[in-house]
Amino acid sequence: MTDTSLMKATGAGRFKQAMRSLAGSVNVVALQDPDGNLLGVTATAVCSLSAEPPSVIVCINQSSSLARGLQVGRLFSVSVLSEHQKEISEAFGGRKGVAGRNRFIYGEWHRSEDNVPILHGARACLECRVDDFIDYGTHRAAVGAVTDVHLEEMDDASLIFVNGQYFSVG
Ligand SMILES: Cc1cc2nc3c(=O)[nH]c(=O)nc-3n(C[C@H](O)[C@H](O)[C@H](O)COP(=O)(O)O)c2cc1C
Repeated sequence: MTDTSLMKATGAGRFKQAMRSLAGSVNVVALQDPDGNLLGVTATAVCSLSAEPPSVIVCINQSSSLARGLQVGRLFSVSVLSEHQKEISEAFGGRKGVAGRNRFIYGEWHRSEDNVPILHGARACLECRVDDFIDYGTHRAAVGAVTDVHLEEMDDASLIFVNGQYFSVG
Protein backbone atom coordinates (compact mmCIF):
# COMPACT_ATOMS: atom_id res chain seq x y z
CA MET A 1 0.00 0.00 0.00
CA THR A 2 1.22 3.53 -0.77
CA ASP A 3 1.98 5.46 2.41
CA THR A 4 0.89 8.98 1.47
CA SER A 5 1.59 10.21 5.01
CA LEU A 6 5.32 10.23 4.22
CA MET A 7 4.90 13.50 2.30
CA LYS A 8 4.66 16.73 4.26
CA ALA A 9 1.43 18.63 3.57
CA THR A 10 3.20 21.31 1.55
CA GLY A 11 5.17 18.76 -0.47
CA ALA A 12 2.87 17.58 -3.24
CA GLY A 13 3.04 20.71 -5.34
CA ARG A 14 6.77 20.99 -4.77
CA PHE A 15 7.19 17.38 -5.85
CA LYS A 16 5.44 18.11 -9.16
CA GLN A 17 7.57 21.21 -9.60
CA ALA A 18 10.71 19.18 -8.96
CA MET A 19 9.63 16.50 -11.46
CA ARG A 20 9.21 19.16 -14.16
CA SER A 21 12.99 19.65 -13.89
CA LEU A 22 13.67 16.03 -14.84
CA ALA A 23 14.66 16.21 -18.50
CA GLY A 24 13.49 13.12 -20.33
CA SER A 25 13.46 11.73 -23.82
CA VAL A 26 10.00 11.58 -25.31
CA ASN A 27 8.69 8.14 -26.24
CA VAL A 28 5.51 6.56 -27.50
CA VAL A 29 4.57 3.31 -25.75
CA ALA A 30 2.21 1.33 -27.97
CA LEU A 31 0.54 -2.04 -28.30
CA GLN A 32 -2.25 -3.93 -29.94
CA ASP A 33 -4.54 -5.57 -27.41
CA PRO A 34 -6.08 -9.07 -27.86
CA ASP A 35 -9.27 -7.48 -29.27
CA GLY A 36 -7.21 -5.81 -32.01
CA ASN A 37 -7.39 -2.31 -30.52
CA LEU A 38 -4.34 -0.14 -31.20
CA LEU A 39 -3.34 1.84 -28.12
CA GLY A 40 -0.51 4.28 -27.58
CA VAL A 41 0.50 7.05 -25.19
CA THR A 42 3.37 9.50 -24.95
CA ALA A 43 5.65 8.78 -21.98
CA THR A 44 8.84 10.32 -20.67
CA ALA A 45 8.85 7.90 -17.73
CA VAL A 46 10.83 5.24 -19.58
CA CYS A 47 14.10 3.98 -18.19
CA SER A 48 16.74 1.46 -19.16
CA LEU A 49 16.67 -1.28 -16.48
CA SER A 50 19.28 -3.93 -17.22
CA ALA A 51 21.59 -4.81 -20.09
CA GLU A 52 21.43 -8.51 -19.21
CA PRO A 53 18.70 -9.30 -19.92
CA PRO A 54 18.01 -6.21 -22.04
CA SER A 55 15.06 -4.56 -20.33
CA VAL A 56 13.30 -1.30 -19.67
CA ILE A 57 10.74 0.07 -17.24
CA VAL A 58 7.78 2.14 -18.43
CA CYS A 59 5.58 4.03 -15.97
CA ILE A 60 2.04 4.59 -17.20
CA ASN A 61 -0.87 6.21 -15.40
CA GLN A 62 -3.40 3.52 -14.45
CA SER A 63 -6.21 5.73 -15.75
CA SER A 64 -4.64 5.67 -19.21
CA SER A 65 -6.10 3.61 -22.03
CA LEU A 66 -2.81 1.73 -22.35
CA ALA A 67 -2.23 0.69 -18.73
CA ARG A 68 -4.63 -2.27 -18.61
CA GLY A 69 -2.96 -3.60 -21.78
CA LEU A 70 0.34 -3.91 -19.92
CA GLN A 71 -0.29 -7.43 -18.59
CA VAL A 72 2.40 -10.07 -18.08
CA GLY A 73 3.23 -11.73 -21.38
CA ARG A 74 1.81 -8.95 -23.57
CA LEU A 75 3.94 -7.35 -26.27
CA PHE A 76 4.46 -3.59 -26.60
CA SER A 77 6.84 -1.14 -28.24
CA VAL A 78 8.78 1.89 -27.07
CA SER A 79 9.52 4.34 -29.89
CA VAL A 80 12.11 6.94 -28.91
CA LEU A 81 11.03 10.10 -30.73
CA SER A 82 13.30 12.23 -32.87
CA GLU A 83 13.29 16.02 -32.96
CA HIS A 84 10.85 16.12 -35.90
CA GLN A 85 8.21 14.06 -34.12
CA LYS A 86 6.82 16.65 -31.72
CA GLU A 87 3.38 16.47 -33.33
CA ILE A 88 3.33 12.72 -32.69
CA SER A 89 4.16 13.39 -29.04
CA GLU A 90 1.26 15.84 -28.82
CA ALA A 91 -1.18 13.43 -30.49
CA PHE A 92 -0.26 10.46 -28.28
CA GLY A 93 -0.12 12.80 -25.29
CA GLY A 94 -3.82 13.49 -25.69
CA ARG A 95 -3.30 17.09 -26.79
CA LYS A 96 -4.87 16.86 -30.24
CA GLY A 97 -8.24 15.43 -29.25
CA VAL A 98 -7.58 12.05 -30.82
CA ALA A 99 -7.72 8.69 -29.04
CA GLY A 100 -7.09 5.01 -29.69
CA ARG A 101 -6.45 3.97 -33.27
CA ASN A 102 -6.86 7.56 -34.56
CA ARG A 103 -3.58 8.56 -32.91
CA PHE A 104 -1.75 6.29 -35.35
CA ILE A 105 -2.68 8.66 -38.20
CA TYR A 106 0.20 10.74 -36.81
CA GLY A 107 3.52 9.33 -37.97
CA GLU A 108 4.32 6.43 -40.23
CA TRP A 109 3.51 3.20 -38.40
CA HIS A 110 3.97 -0.38 -39.45
CA ARG A 111 3.69 -3.71 -37.66
CA SER A 112 6.55 -5.97 -36.69
CA GLU A 113 6.47 -9.72 -37.34
CA ASP A 114 4.93 -10.06 -33.88
CA ASN A 115 2.21 -7.51 -34.71
CA VAL A 116 3.69 -4.79 -32.53
CA PRO A 117 3.27 -1.17 -33.73
CA ILE A 118 6.63 0.27 -34.87
CA LEU A 119 7.15 3.96 -35.62
CA HIS A 120 9.21 4.87 -38.67
CA GLY A 121 11.61 7.82 -38.22
CA ALA A 122 12.09 7.29 -34.49
CA ARG A 123 15.61 7.35 -33.03
CA ALA A 124 15.07 3.80 -31.88
CA CYS A 125 12.20 1.42 -31.40
CA LEU A 126 12.23 -1.41 -28.85
CA GLU A 127 9.91 -4.38 -28.99
CA CYS A 128 9.24 -5.68 -25.49
CA ARG A 129 7.32 -8.32 -23.59
CA VAL A 130 5.86 -7.46 -20.19
CA ASP A 131 7.72 -9.63 -17.67
CA ASP A 132 6.38 -8.04 -14.51
CA PHE A 133 4.64 -4.95 -13.23
CA ILE A 134 3.77 -3.18 -10.04
CA ASP A 135 0.89 -0.81 -9.47
CA TYR A 136 2.08 1.97 -7.20
CA GLY A 137 -0.02 5.01 -6.41
CA THR A 138 -1.43 6.38 -9.65
CA HIS A 139 0.89 4.49 -11.99
CA ARG A 140 1.72 1.05 -13.33
CA ALA A 141 5.46 0.39 -13.66
CA ALA A 142 5.93 -2.38 -16.21
CA VAL A 143 9.16 -4.25 -16.79
CA GLY A 144 9.65 -4.90 -20.49
CA ALA A 145 12.07 -7.60 -21.62
CA VAL A 146 13.40 -6.36 -24.95
CA THR A 147 12.78 -8.87 -27.74
CA ASP A 148 13.93 -6.81 -30.73
CA VAL A 149 15.56 -3.45 -31.50
CA HIS A 150 14.94 -1.31 -34.59
CA LEU A 151 17.49 1.37 -35.43
CA GLU A 152 17.46 3.67 -38.46
CA GLU A 153 20.35 5.58 -39.98
CA MET A 154 19.62 9.24 -39.19
CA ASP A 155 21.14 12.56 -38.20
CA ASP A 156 18.06 13.72 -36.31
CA ALA A 157 18.51 14.58 -32.65
CA SER A 158 16.38 13.16 -29.83
CA LEU A 159 13.24 14.94 -28.66
CA ILE A 160 13.58 15.98 -25.03
CA PHE A 161 10.91 17.34 -22.67
CA VAL A 162 11.72 19.44 -19.64
CA ASN A 163 9.90 22.21 -17.78
CA GLY A 164 6.92 21.79 -20.11
CA GLN A 165 8.95 22.47 -23.26
CA TYR A 166 10.46 20.44 -26.08
CA PHE A 167 14.14 20.55 -27.01
CA SER A 168 16.38 18.77 -29.53
CA VAL A 169 19.45 17.15 -28.05
CA GLY A 170 22.09 14.76 -29.30
C1 LIG B 1 5.72 15.03 -23.15
C2 LIG B 1 4.73 14.14 -22.44
C3 LIG B 1 5.18 13.17 -21.55
C4 LIG B 1 4.30 12.31 -20.90
N1 LIG B 1 4.78 11.33 -20.06
C5 LIG B 1 3.91 10.46 -19.50
C6 LIG B 1 4.40 9.35 -18.74
O1 LIG B 1 5.60 9.16 -18.57
N2 LIG B 1 3.48 8.48 -18.21
C7 LIG B 1 2.13 8.66 -18.39
O2 LIG B 1 1.34 7.85 -17.88
N3 LIG B 1 1.64 9.69 -19.10
C8 LIG B 1 2.50 10.59 -19.67
N4 LIG B 1 2.03 11.61 -20.43
C9 LIG B 1 0.57 11.80 -20.54
C10 LIG B 1 -0.09 10.82 -21.50
O3 LIG B 1 0.61 10.72 -22.73
C11 LIG B 1 -1.52 11.30 -21.80
O4 LIG B 1 -2.23 11.44 -20.59
C12 LIG B 1 -2.26 10.39 -22.74
O5 LIG B 1 -3.30 11.14 -23.33
C13 LIG B 1 -2.90 9.20 -22.07
O6 LIG B 1 -3.57 8.43 -23.04
P1 LIG B 1 -5.16 8.17 -22.96
O7 LIG B 1 -5.80 9.51 -23.21
O8 LIG B 1 -5.39 7.21 -24.10
O9 LIG B 1 -5.47 7.59 -21.65
C14 LIG B 1 2.89 12.47 -21.10
C15 LIG B 1 2.43 13.44 -22.02
C16 LIG B 1 3.34 14.25 -22.68
C17 LIG B 1 2.83 15.27 -23.68
